[in-house]
Amino acid sequence: MACESEKWVLMVTAQTPTNIAVIKYWGKRDESLILPINDSISVTLDPEHLCTTTTVAVSPSFDQDRMWLNGKEISLSGGRYQRCLREIRSRASDVEDEKKGIKITKKDWENLHVHIASYNNFPTAAGLASSAAGFACLVFSLAKLMNVKEDQGKLSAIARQGSGSACRSLYGGFVKWIMGKHDDGSDSIAVQLADEKHWDDLVIVIAVVSSRQKETSSTSGMRESVETSMLIKHRAKEVVPKRIVDMEEAIKNRDFPSFAHLACADSNQFHAVCLDTCPPIFYMNDTIIGCVEKWNRSEESPQVAYTFDAGPNAVLIARNRKVAASLLQRLLFHFPPSSDADLSSYVIGDKSILQDVGVTDLKDIEALPPPPEIKDAQKYKGDVSYFICTKPGKGPVLLSDKNQALLSPETGLPK
Ligand code: ADE
Repeated sequence: MACESEKWVLMVTAQTPTNIAVIKYWGKRDESLILPINDSISVTLDPEHLCTTTTVAVSPSFDQDRMWLNGKEISLSGGRYQRCLREIRSRASDVEDEKKGIKITKKDWENLHVHIASYNNFPTAAGLASSAAGFACLVFSLAKLMNVKEDQGKLSAIARQGSGSACRSLYGGFVKWIMGKHDDGSDSIAVQLADEKHWDDLVIVIAVVSSRQKETSSTSGMRESVETSMLIKHRAKEVVPKRIVDMEEAIKNRDFPSFAHLACADSNQFHAVCLDTCPPIFYMNDTIIGCVEKWNRSEESPQVAYTFDAGPNAVLIARNRKVAASLLQRLLFHFPPSSDADLSSYVIGDKSILQDVGVTDLKDIEALPPPPEIKDAQKYKGDVSYFICTKPGKGPVLLSDKNQALLSPETGLPK
């Protein structure tokens, strides 16, 4: 390792989005390699509103690999972190920084340690796929630091070994995770179906119901479903393969009615599998489904799609901005904030939709009219913690601004 002093620190910072599956991943055929029993399709969410930022650093002065998540040091001893680190390290290439007088050879990487600092701009473990954005960012930033020359598909197969749905966060727009056939998982990769500009009318509203940690982890829930549910076998073999073809077609043609029908049906079947699991798993809070179903049926064609992951948060996809304003109006009518909330923290992300609804303060929410399609519309004050307004977004990016780094360039420790 040629360098003028042993004091140098070399680092890379990246930002990676989260994603929401519209054809769900549920069930593994290999637990340690994280190989799924069916393909899945997701929409990448705009990293401006939901993302992970990760800085990775290397220095000869580091004596072990260390990681800080949201400012707190965490252990890297878990198998998922170890696998991602090992897979990236084994593909490292020579790195040269002439200005700093640093030269790291492929062989050097085996003995160098890394520091990793990662920050999620949304609550970790609230069911908003923080581990998807997190592992995608870890793999993407380490690959840049270590000059890994693999394409994005190969990197997605590494991110998959950290968290299955992380492989889909390596691309923007609309993404398919191909389950693959090989036992070693080499063909279980993500591919981009269309970028975020392809269908930029869509508006996504997330109702965050609770930021508490969910009760059944996805890992154990999936295992129990695979072991005990009959429905999951029918779903994986008969239902999903056809839905994947139809969803790809709906996305290609920007066919919202088909997209909405498929996304809602698939979310509902995933939760039916959860109920078919022994003991049954309850993730979803169904009040919002009732509202959206009634509204969609009162219109000529569906205006909004809903999808629920392994948690109580509702992800609602509106066909355009005008519909998103009507949606937000309905949501704010049914779910007014608890008395101590303020509007600016109750609706976050793209707040401009609030102006379209004509809501500028909390009093405007109280004055909203009930949705015309619902008789005796009820209110569930305080049931929603907050709403995030967002849209389909771009994939991972490198951040070149040194101010955005989470580690100090002098010490390689958290700032
Ligand atoms: N799990 C949740 N958030 C994460 C992050 N940012 N990095 C790695 N793992 C995570």
